[in-house]
Amino acid sequence: MRASFLGPVCALILLLRESDCQGDDVTSRTVNPCCHFPCQHWGVCVRYTEDKYECDCTRTGYYGENCTVPEFWTRVKHFLRPPPDVLHYILTHFHWLWDVINSTFLRDVLMRLVLTVRSNLIPTPPTFNSKYGYLSWESYYNLSYYTRILPPVPEDCPTPLGVKGKTKLPAAELLVEKLLKRKTFRPDPQGSNLMFAFFAQHFTHQFFKTYNRMGVGFTKALGHGVDAGHIYGDNLERQLSLRLLKDGKLKYQLINGEMYPPTVADAPVKMSYPPGIPVEDQMAIGQEVFGLLPGLGLYATLWLREHNRVCDILKAEHPAWDDEQLFQTARFIIIGETIRIVIEEYVQHLSGYLLQLKFDPTLLFNSHFQYGNRISLEFSQLYHWHPLMPDSFHISGDELSYQQFLFNTSVVTRYGVEKLVEAFSRQVAGQVGGGHNINAVVTHVALRTIEESRQLRVQPFNEYRKRFNLKPYESFTQFADNKEIADTLEEFYGDIDALEFYPGLMLEKTRPGAIFGESMVEMGAPFSLKGLLGNPICSPEYWKPSTFGGKVGFDIVNSATLKKLVCLNTRTCPYVAFRVPPEEKQRQEKSDGNMPSDEL
Ligand code: HEM
Ligand SMILES: *[C@@H]1O[C@H](CO)[C@@H](O)[C@H](O)[C@H]1NC(C)=O
Ligand SMILES: *[C@@H]1O[C@H](CO)[C@@H](O)[C@H](O)[C@H]1NC(C)=O
Ligand SMILES: *[C@@H]1O[C@H](CO)[C@@H](O)[C@H](O)[C@H]1NC(C)=O
Ligand SMILES: *[C@@H]1O[C@H](CO)[C@@H](O)[C@H](O)[C@H]1NC(C)=O
Repeated sequence: MRASFLGPVCALILLLRESDCQGDDVTSRTVNPCCHFPCQHWGVCVRYTEDKYECDCTRTGYYGENCTVPEFWTRVKHFLRPPPDVLHYILTHFHWLWDVINSTFLRDVLMRLVLTVRSNLIPTPPTFNSKYGYLSWESYYNLSYYTRILPPVPEDCPTPLGVKGKTKLPAAELLVEKLLKRKTFRPDPQGSNLMFAFFAQHFTHQFFKTYNRMGVGFTKALGHGVDAGHIYGDNLERQLSLRLLKDGKLKYQLINGEMYPPTVADAPVKMSYPPGIPVEDQMAIGQEVFGLLPGLGLYATLWLREHNRVCDILKAEHPAWDDEQLFQTARFIIIGETIRIVIEEYVQHLSGYLLQLKFDPTLLFNSHFQYGNRISLEFSQLYHWHPLMPDSFHISGDELSYQQFLFNTSVVTRYGVEKLVEAFSRQVAGQVGGGHNINAVVTHVALRTIEESRQLRVQPFNEYRKRFNLKPYESFTQFADNKEIADTLEEFYGDIDALEFYPGLMLEKTRPGAIFGESMVEMGAPFSLKGLLGNPICSPEYWKPSTFGGKVGFDIVNSATLKKLVCLNTRTCPYVAFRVPPEEKQRQEKSDGNMPSDEL
């Protein structure tokens, strides 16, 4: 039964992943005391004899057998720290207050606080990985592994998630079918559009490149962060094939006088397309899977144009520079622009914060911030935001089905950048949280995510709640406000402490008027901000004009916006944003019969 369900799915996945599409389960008999996750507050569980363990509470601020007794200063800090929900409420309400804060030194103070508090939750150097549940040199050194924030559930536990819950997990197919699959499209109440959705996918696929050929839990993206490998390729050979090797530029083709990525005939790199698509029709892009969606082809085109535009500016400034220096410097500028757009527009939109976020690496120069980043498996699981995808794509008066949209090599060049940006900016994306919102075309991806997490023994959702300073949920009814979801989960898992990580993120009750629930934000933001600010260009040695070719280049980084990315590279300037225009939002809410959200 499972084989027949996976058949066509495997075909698509094989294409993208070169994986073997197989799972395996390991079980044995001995019970391990660490299966209870006894050590609280980041304490480390160390096993001695069969049933004896010890918690290493060093520098956790707690002591006692299970690191549960707070030290004096921990008590004080705990007393002073407002709960995340209160903070979130303040950050998303009181317009008058933020209007004042935005234009004073308090903006910097709060931004610094956001950055340090969030990134302190992510360890540098990284710790565990899917093979090593304890610190090891291999885990530190071998970049092919995704790291892990929490170690895997030990192999020899009584239940799949430790000691809680049933001995058998609900079939992943059942979870997907009953709780994740879309019934009717539910738009994101924050008004995120497809421009946002494709940005998310494009941006994150530079550092999420699961490499099942090496084994499950591995990555092909060894840069572990914002390295623009999705534009330049994840290795030198690919990069050289994509480069023009003149004036620092990337290869391109001109269609109706407009610049697009070159064909695979001109830049021979491996792209994942279904069999039979001639190389003349395949676009050569840094990321091998970006032929999948015209939305990704659109962003590839935009960044290609931007890179070459920046090269022209740099060359005019530095006529003496060779191709290599122009290329390398342009790449830094592209990385800087990306980080600025992500923090000041993408995260700003997603957070709904009234604090005006700021990309300013100097905010951290007097703190103990560690430069460096390692992408974790949990981050990759968390970012499976497939509910964003609509039921069809509305472009310039046409409606394209998935069948017409996926792997369609002509959409980008047929409509051109302006029309696609306009269309994607006006079409609303789906709400990610709250369940029942993944289009049937991509439910298989959710299925694979759940299967991967089981194979890699990802700890329970509630253990992650605790790791990110959130209170564990006490019941399914507290976790979900939708009774049907709560009841089904109760029946499936039997115990809230046995709820899995990814289903937990997708099915938690959403915040009022928001795209996600609390956990997605409180767990996602630390990974995200750590990755953005941990970039080498943000370090004191790098963050200066000369790194970016002087004042001109530094200014480009410091003034980058999504709108400029589009409109400095097109003839006319379309509507471009990460959210649908206000009129559109109201219209969609009316036609969906939804009440306007209480954010208004
Ligand atoms: C119609 C649109 C989309 C299709 C057809 C699609 C398809 C896929 C497929 C086939 C995989 C690999 C699954 C596996 O082997 O486990 C995947 C992975 C993934 N997708 Fe999507 N996806 C779409 C949109 C999105 C969007 C909008 C996001 C937003 C962030 C996203 C985020 C991810 C992530 C984070 C992964 C894991 C990547 C990795 O670990 O290598 N996808 N998707
Ligand atoms: C520590 O945790 C274990 C396992 O959960 C439990 O049996 C034990 O009673 C706890 N010890 C204390 C002092 O709370
Ligand atoms: C403060 O920033 C928020 C978010 O960017 C924005 O909505 C608000 O209008 C800003 N206020 C001022 C005065 O800049
Ligand atoms: C990383 O570990 C994998 C699995 O053991 C191995 O195949 C690979 O060669 C290692 N990489 C390096 C650079 O040692
Ligand atoms: C590809 O997209 C075009 C629109 O640009 C559409 O007319 C065509 O039917 C699509 N091709 C396929 C094979 O669906």
